[in-house]
Amino acid sequence: MTLSPPRDKSMPHIPVMVEEVLSYLNINPAGIYVDGTVGAGGHTIQILNQLNGEGSLIGFDRDHEALAIAKKTIPISSRVSLNCASYHTLPDFLEKHGSNLVNGILLDLGLSSMQLDDEKRGFSFSKKGLLDMRFDQNSDRGASTIINHSSEQELADIMYHFGEERLSRRIAKSIVKQRPIADVEGLFEAIRTATPPQNRNKTLARVFQAFRIAVNGELEKLDHFLSSFIDTLAIGGRIVIMSYHSLEDRRVKHIFRALKRDGRLNVLNKKPVMAQQDEMDTNPRARSAKLRAAERIK
Ligand SMILES: C[S@@+](CC[C@H](N)C(=O)[O-])C[C@H]1O[C@@H](n2cnc3c(N)ncnc32)[C@H](O)[C@@H]1O
Repeated sequence: MTLSPPRDKSMPHIPVMVEEVLSYLNINPAGIYVDGTVGAGGHTIQILNQLNGEGSLIGFDRDHEALAIAKKTIPISSRVSLNCASYHTLPDFLEKHGSNLVNGILLDLGLSSMQLDDEKRGFSFSKKGLLDMRFDQNSDRGASTIINHSSEQELADIMYHFGEERLSRRIAKSIVKQRPIADVEGLFEAIRTATPPQNRNKTLARVFQAFRIAVNGELEKLDHFLSSFIDTLAIGGRIVIMSYHSLEDRRVKHIFRALKRDGRLNVLNKKPVMAQQDEMDTNPRARSAKLRAAERIK
């Protein structure tokens, strides 16, 4: 089947680096593949298109709304299993279902355009909305709990460690002063009054990223996955991970290097692969994507 990466702007989320992902996965049509971050299903469908009647796909996403959208386009069959769960639960899933080792895993980290664009989710500083930011709508702690109930020091630490924000202490003081903060506009205002106008959008993006990471325990889940994925991958199986900020990319790089030193993984790209310029021009999300790929050899 000939693949042309979708560039259709009417799609809820335009998948990033589709050709590169498929090329690094080097799909065995009869293999078992995992899409750990299904989102709108853009990559999932492309992987499925490469499988034959013996191949199968296991998908995960923590967001049941995303899975509902993906299910409208992904042809459901006994070869496809879509799960509302975190990708780090893959080893448990395989054990529970008595599955064989898998031949490829894709993680396309972060959040989708449809989550970012949905006002009620509170992910974007440029939209009105409640301070929610949960990927999993059944989890009990949204951003408003963290923002309104953490100490000033805890708030500063979140922004410093998960957003690498230099002005974290100043912003934390402003948040505490303006509490209770009910919505995105309130958080925006607390940041605005504590920061200079130059590059404020970058500060806002870092702070919103930091609270999103804290709400969803994103780095813990990634660390958990990175410490266990190797034993779920068959020899010759491939892993492809796309990150959108350095906190994630650094973790992936370090684990791949450690597994390479142990002789278990062949790292397929020394430097992370970036999207081609034409893709960056048509899909702004692609600009910050960094792809790393590796193959299990032992
Ligand atoms: C960048 S989007 C994926 C887009 C997808 N590749 C596509 O083509 O539509 C990232 C997705 O990962 C999900 N996600 C984030 N953390 C997750 C986790 N720990 N486990 C499973 N899904 C997660 C988000 O809910 C979001 O839908």
